[in-house]
Order: sequence, then structure tokens, then C-alpha cells
Amino acid sequence: MADQRSEDRDTAASPAALALRWEEPPEGPVLVILDQTRLPAEEVELVCTDVPVLVEAIRSLAVRGAPLLGIAGAYGVALAAARGFDVDEAAESLAHARPTAVNLGYGVRRAAAAYHAAAKAGADAQGAAAAALAEARALHREDAEASERMAAHGLALLDELLPAGGYRLLTHCNTGALVSGGGGTALAVAAAVHRVGQLRRLWVDETRPLLQGARLTAYEAGRAGMAYTLLTDNAAGSLFAAGEVDAVLIGADRIAADGSVANKVGSYPLAVLARYHHVPFVVVAPTSTVDLGTADGASIEIEQRPGHEVTDITVPYAPAAGAQAGTGIPVAPLGTQAYNPAFDVTPPELVTALVTEAGVVSPVTGDGIAELCARSRSG
Ligand code: MRU
Repeated sequence: MADQRSEDRDTAASPAALALRWEEPPEGPVLVILDQTRLPAEEVELVCTDVPVLVEAIRSLAVRGAPLLGIAGAYGVALAAARGFDVDEAAESLAHARPTAVNLGYGVRRAAAAYHAAAKAGADAQGAAAAALAEARALHREDAEASERMAAHGLALLDELLPAGGYRLLTHCNTGALVSGGGGTALAVAAAVHRVGQLRRLWVDETRPLLQGARLTAYEAGRAGMAYTLLTDNAAGSLFAAGEVDAVLIGADRIAADGSVANKVGSYPLAVLARYHHVPFVVVAPTSTVDLGTADGASIEIEQRPGHEVTDITVPYAPAAGAQAGTGIPVAPLGTQAYNPAFDVTPPELVTALVTEAGVVSPVTGDGIAELCARSRSG
């Protein structure tokens, strides 16, 4: 069951809310999620007491972004274990809630493996549940640490690639603290650039159709005091042509063994633009986003989302007068079919560098990625 906690906060002044946290009130453990569909207007928390609610929160993008999906999936397994639900059934439904971000299955598998290992070693149900929770917490911590290291590596890379004097960075979708146990991926790098006084401008793609850039990246950038400007996705081309972009920074949902990068739809056109205009195109992602079991870009399953996200403008947090929150305002003739892939794939040859917590791969090749993963997974 989900409960909702809404706080009428001064969002510009309050500290950034946590994307998710585990709580143990007397009624039993819960996973509390900041409902990202309601941002930036409202900070509403969803209190998940069971797995189906969490699965729905993942599908509806209340909780989203690759690293955070992994953390949420791991806590979901811990929740099922702590509340006495069937752990394997819970793991199965969580892992398949969304298909593209590899971190989701990774987090779910880690917590489920910890649960089963403890049970096999003789732990009772409570002990096995505690093992699943400890694993979820470990993943949460690791992700926060990975954010810091990616930010440091990314900043050093930009200093190497770009002339001094301040950088104008373009980003797509949302890749900050809202998708992570720490500062995030691409946006964590932009924040590091900002902290050393080198951010001239953060260009924020609005990210149609669900507006993660306009709603979430602008929310995070504003709180951090970054100089940011929002643009429609279609305006990126003229911005490059005007020489206003020094580098593109994006995250990733899955990186195949050959270095192909699946990320929010609209990333691939940016990579093409960046190559044409000789601008570095940098992907920032933890090694948990690399999937050596997926050979190439064509093998990555791309989530197809419902057409109404395109045919209707849905503003879940600020419904039109008289409308229900979450209902859309139609902008296309009734019955219009829509093409709505949530992600696209950028081939490795268009990626200047991949920044991970374990270091930077450039050029991005299958061998370079395999070597990085071997190094990070052995240590
Ligand atoms: O559909 P979403 O909002 O979950 O998509 C998120 C993205 O595409 C992010 O860019 C990606 O997860 C990388 S964030 C670390």
C-alpha cells in the first residue's frame, strides 16, 4: 500500500529532499520515495509498504534514473523479505518493472543473492531479511561514493579536453542527486565544475515527452546555484551552430560490451550534432551500468512507453483547472498513433569518453571497457 506525505515547502530555500530512504516505524519497515512525477511544484513522498506499489512507482517514473532504480530494486527485495512476502516473486516483478536500465536487475539480484546466501548459511527469516537490507544499504553507499569519484574524474577530463576560461555544458534528461545515492552522474560532474567556479552555463534540454530536464534538472541546478538555461530539445542544433556548447555530458541506462550507450531518447541526436560540430560528447555512468552480457547496441531492449505521453501533455503536478492530477491535455487529434521509445542508442564511435568511478575510457572500445570492468570488479 502507498501512503502519501505532502509538504508545502519553499522549494527554493529548503535542502534537496532525498530521492529515497528506508524507515522502520513501529508498524513495520517502509521504503519512502520522493515522487518525482510531482516535482518541481511539490515534494510529495510515497510510502511503500509492499512491492506492487514500488513496482508501480518505478513504472510511473515516481522513482527513476538508472542508479536509483538499482538502489530501489535492492530495497524492494529487502522490503519483501522484511514483511514476509515471497522474495523470489518480488525480485522477479521488480527486475522486470522497466527493461532498459541494467542497474535495476543488478540491484535486485544483489539483494536477493544476499538473502539466499544468508538463508543457506542457516539464518532465520529475520536474519536473511537483515542480509538483504545490508546489501541494499551497501549498494546505496557504493553509489554515493561512485558519484564522488565520477565527478572528480569528469572534472579532470574536462580540464584536459577544454581550454580554461569556463565551460558551457549541455545535458539531457536528469542525472543528479535525484537518480543516485549521492550527487549523480553527468550532473555531478557539472556540479563539480560549478564548485570550482568553471561553469559558464549549463544548457538543460527539456527532454520530451516527460520533461525530466525541465522539471528535475532545472530543479536541481537551481538549488545548487548553477547558471542554467532551459531549451527545447529541438533548439540544441542551433545552439551548437552558434558555437555555444563546449561539451555534452549525459548519463546512461545501459552500456553494451561494445560501448554502445542506451540513454534517454534524444541523446543520439546530440551525439551526432556534437561530432559534426567537433564538440566532446562525454558519457558519465558507474560501472554497474555496463552490461558485458549485452553484446552491442542492437541487443539492448528499448522500453516503449504509452503513446498518450506524446499525444497528450501531461503535467502531473499542476493539473489544469478542474482536471485530475495525472490526466493529460490532448494536443493531437483523437486516435493519433505515437512513437514513444524512452531511450535511444549512441554508437561508441560517437562517444568521446566514458567516465566511470573506476576511471575514464577513451576512445570507447569493447577492449577498453572490458579492461576497466575487470579492474574495477577485481578490486
Ligand atoms: O526514463 P528515465 O527518467 O528513468 O530516464 C533516465 C535517464 O535516461 C538518465 O539519463 C539515465 O538513467 C542516466 S542517470 C544516471
